Amino acid sequence: MEKNRPIGIFDSGVGGLTVAKAIAELLPAESFIYFGDTRHAPYGDKSSHTIREYSQRISRFLVAQNCKAIVIACNSASAAAYQQLCADFPNIPIINVIDPAVKYIAQSEASKVGIIATRATVRSKVYAQRISAANQNLTVVQKATPLLAPLIEEGFAGTDVSKGALAHYLNHSSLKKLSDLILGCTHYPLLEEEIAAFLGPKVRVLNSAKLAAQALQGVLAWQDLLSTSVDAGKRRFYVSEKTPAFTKIAKMFFGQEIRLEEKFLKS
Ligand code: DGL
Repeated sequence: MEKNRPIGIFDSGVGGLTVAKAIAELLPAESFIYFGDTRHAPYGDKSSHTIREYSQRISRFLVAQNCKAIVIACNSASAAAYQQLCADFPNIPIINVIDPAVKYIAQSEASKVGIIATRATVRSKVYAQRISAANQNLTVVQKATPLLAPLIEEGFAGTDVSKGALAHYLNHSSLKKLSDLILGCTHYPLLEEEIAAFLGPKVRVLNSAKLAAQALQGVLAWQDLLSTSVDAGKRRFYVSEKTPAFTKIAKMFFGQEIRLEEKFLKS
């Protein structure tokens, strides 16, 4: 049935699992197919052109799997490829992870907003431009934190390695006196507790996974595409290369029954 087709979700690796988990919690009847492009991670250090090409390749695969919507569960790909994917697949709703966070922060009581993200996302200036366009009263500062996604991908979250990297980045003078910090990379919620503990209670830490799940729910409802299944949705996980961290984190998020399939996508 049309409405019970899966949702396609993709990221460079484990980061998008934070979004997939939020989707599974908010929309338990939805099936999804997740693709982690571990062979090409990290995306954050690649050119926009390359990130676009990988995103198109994965989206073609997800559409061929009969997905009814695509969630770009990666900020770097949201910044580099969202418009291209909307043009490539005009008949499929496409959700990015940047716009829901921008909308939320622009309407909040924030004053000085920090964004930590990959180099690709910071270079795009998408957050800064869209937040300033939505609310001119906000001060926006961005800081590239390129070590964080690879260290999470390698399984170093919650260790002295992540503590050291966070201290190095978050002590930067531009990030002083923040009201809010946006985790501008879907990998970073895996460090959320460490980041919040480092910044203290005066700084709100915004993780866009739940906001992206809500945006997806809104679009599916509007297009009358919400699943009508009474069973829990089916979940399939693909990676372009199996890695120990992916298996561990996917199992931690979704339980023992996950079936991880390796899939090499040709250009
Ligand atoms: N999780 C991705 C993001 O939100 C990509 C991180 C990376 O591969 O560099 O930007």
